[in-house]
Amino acid sequence: MAEAAELGSARLLAAACREHEAAFGRAPVLAAWAPGRVNLIGEHTDYNCGFVLPMALQLGTVLVGSPTKDGTISIITTSADADKPRRVEFPTPSQSSPLSPGQPRWANYVKGVIQHYKGGPMPGFSAVIASDIPLGGGLSSSAALEVATYTFLQQLCPDDSDLVAKALLCQKAEHTFANMPCGIMDQFISAMGKEGHALLIDCRSLETVLVPLSDASLAVLITNSNVRHTLTGSEYPTRRRQCEEAAAALGKESLRDATMAELEAAKSRLGEEVYRRARHVIGEIARTEQAAQALKNRDYKTFGKLMVESHNSLRDDYEVSCPELDELVAAALEVKGVYGSRMTGGGFGGCTVTLLKAEAAEEAQRHIQEKYSRTATFYLTKPSEGAKVLPL
Ligand code: GLA
Repeated sequence: MAEAAELGSARLLAAACREHEAAFGRAPVLAAWAPGRVNLIGEHTDYNCGFVLPMALQLGTVLVGSPTKDGTISIITTSADADKPRRVEFPTPSQSSPLSPGQPRWANYVKGVIQHYKGGPMPGFSAVIASDIPLGGGLSSSAALEVATYTFLQQLCPDDSDLVAKALLCQKAEHTFANMPCGIMDQFISAMGKEGHALLIDCRSLETVLVPLSDASLAVLITNSNVRHTLTGSEYPTRRRQCEEAAAALGKESLRDATMAELEAAKSRLGEEVYRRARHVIGEIARTEQAAQALKNRDYKTFGKLMVESHNSLRDDYEVSCPELDELVAAALEVKGVYGSRMTGGGFGGCTVTLLKAEAAEEAQRHIQEKYSRTATFYLTKPSEGAKVLPL
């Protein structure tokens, strides 16, 4: 299991090193890798101080580079999907000239982390990015880039922060430089993932509990719908606002503190849509705790049932699914040996996650593709380690 991640990161590392030598005329001396993630359950709960249960992927992002003496930062991305230009150059930030977001968009994740980073003093450096996470596929390519950048900077100019501070800083970079008011899930799991485990994160206390997920008879299948509906940009902040509105109407700091009974009692005071958004969040927080317990007990049937309930709630109450994701889930549930399936991540496209018997994995891919109206991409992946330094 560790091998696939190592193979993946070794391939990316070799590609990034080659590009660095070709573009900058010297070999890189530092390298870092950070994984993408799939969320097993607990969707749109992180910014409501609830629970989430993601695992780190074997897919990830590598950043290689070396310090320079000219005070300039030059970064190249090798990703064919990134917007152009693929090379950016800017001076190391100072108090009088901080970095600010702009074009190309991919560079904002890197710039945001550099700007907020607390170690130092930061020299100029050259760097190359390589990734095998599909961009915009809902597997946290952005968090992986932020966390890989941070892990790289920790070698270049060490800081003294812990993993929680690291994840929070990367989240801040995403808020301020990518203008995406995300929760903490993606950066946390990319920084803290553990091989063979899912991570139950309490997004209020920021405490984490590792839940074993290494049963050889079990598989986690990710299916990329290969669609991304463009409304994502505005829908996510709208959902966040609706949740805040519901919490305020219930007199709570967050929906984590609200019960279903309290919501029902307040129903007439809430708009119908806001009521349904809150019903999803309150239900999903409870489901996630139950699912973590079921996984500990190796009760995959219960886990699968909760995944399906999660999907239905995201589709009907939270309205962040789309026909393509619904099709993929419906097709997966027709396969013998599938425990459960649901959309994963922010929604409006991206991926589904399916929990199934390992022996059913091939048939599941065949059947899902046969039923799906477009071309799907499949990833059979095991829980991997979080971000790490790669030796050169
Ligand atoms: C995106 C955000 C996360 C989380 C999910 C939905 O991935 O980055 O913080 O809110 O959506 O669960």
